[in-house]
Amino acid sequence: MAKTDQNTKKSELDAPAFQIPTPKLKHLIGIEGLTALDIHFLLDRAEEMVDISRQVDKRRHTLSGRTLINLFFENSTRTQSSFEIAGKRLGMDVINMAVAQSSVKKGETLVDTAVTLNAMQPDLLVMRHHAAGAAELLAQKVGCSVINAGDGAHEHPTQALLDALTIRRKKGSIEGLVVAICGDVAHSRVARSNILLLNTLGAQVRVIAPSTLLPSSIESLGVTAYRSMEDGLKGCDVVMMLRLQKERMAGAFIPSMREYFRFFGLDKARLKLAKEDAIVMHPGPMNRGVEIASEIADGVQSVIVEQVEMGVAVRMAVMEVLQQSCAEDAT
Ligand code: NCD
Repeated sequence: MAKTDQNTKKSELDAPAFQIPTPKLKHLIGIEGLTALDIHFLLDRAEEMVDISRQVDKRRHTLSGRTLINLFFENSTRTQSSFEIAGKRLGMDVINMAVAQSSVKKGETLVDTAVTLNAMQPDLLVMRHHAAGAAELLAQKVGCSVINAGDGAHEHPTQALLDALTIRRKKGSIEGLVVAICGDVAHSRVARSNILLLNTLGAQVRVIAPSTLLPSSIESLGVTAYRSMEDGLKGCDVVMMLRLQKERMAGAFIPSMREYFRFFGLDKARLKLAKEDAIVMHPGPMNRGVEIASEIADGVQSVIVEQVEMGVAVRMAVMEVLQQSCAEDAT
């Protein structure tokens, strides 16, 4: 059962009273396809990892002797180091492939890279790639487990899981919460994975963005779309800010950063519209003064630093569960 900061009433959907079976997962490509029980299982396992990570000796040797290869085709500091720390805490040998300076630059295809890596007998491959669908393709070509650490604007499942763990610890449960995801929804894999996860766990999801950053089909994902922060933030329990993904924008989606902050930045006055005990989240890296005011990012309602801590715990849990189900399959 999940430990929580608050003792909130739990519903059946939010916290099953029975033993949840270990999910049968070889890869984690997206939140799509996970059930509410799978998600709760992973979050419960991550709670154990939070406790372990707070001890002086942080090692848990469940995956010792196994090899994890981090394959980051896009720049990343926090996500890559989070996976590296998670792997090492579980006892794995972790290799960070410097793909940016690798044979990929010499023209090698992703499939050839995958076949080469596979020959080195890794147990887990963690990949971040600028193309949607890249993780799925890799998973088809290698024998080991693949974790998607972000593929284009498609999915970023461990981010959604760490966000859910942070929310669950702060609010006790996720079902029934009103969550506003604000900003560059159109280019965000974080938004997509969070929408899928939060809907699966029974939250009410709103998205707030200028029309240019809001896909027209967004409501088909089961969210309510708002084009004004003033309307969308009213009565929210969770305010999740998104970074403007300038690197994914081909063309001008906003008039200027200043104008964007004026209308869509989270400041003190806007945050007042949410519930008094609302929490503020951001996956990082933040653009202070663009999507979020510094005083809010560093303020008492912010759980941004806690999200980073939960990231390591969630990644430990995902790696252990994937390896466990692979081992069960082999017997
Ligand atoms: C996110 C990502 O890469 O999708 N960041 C992260 O995982 N730390 C969000 C972002 O880059 O804005």
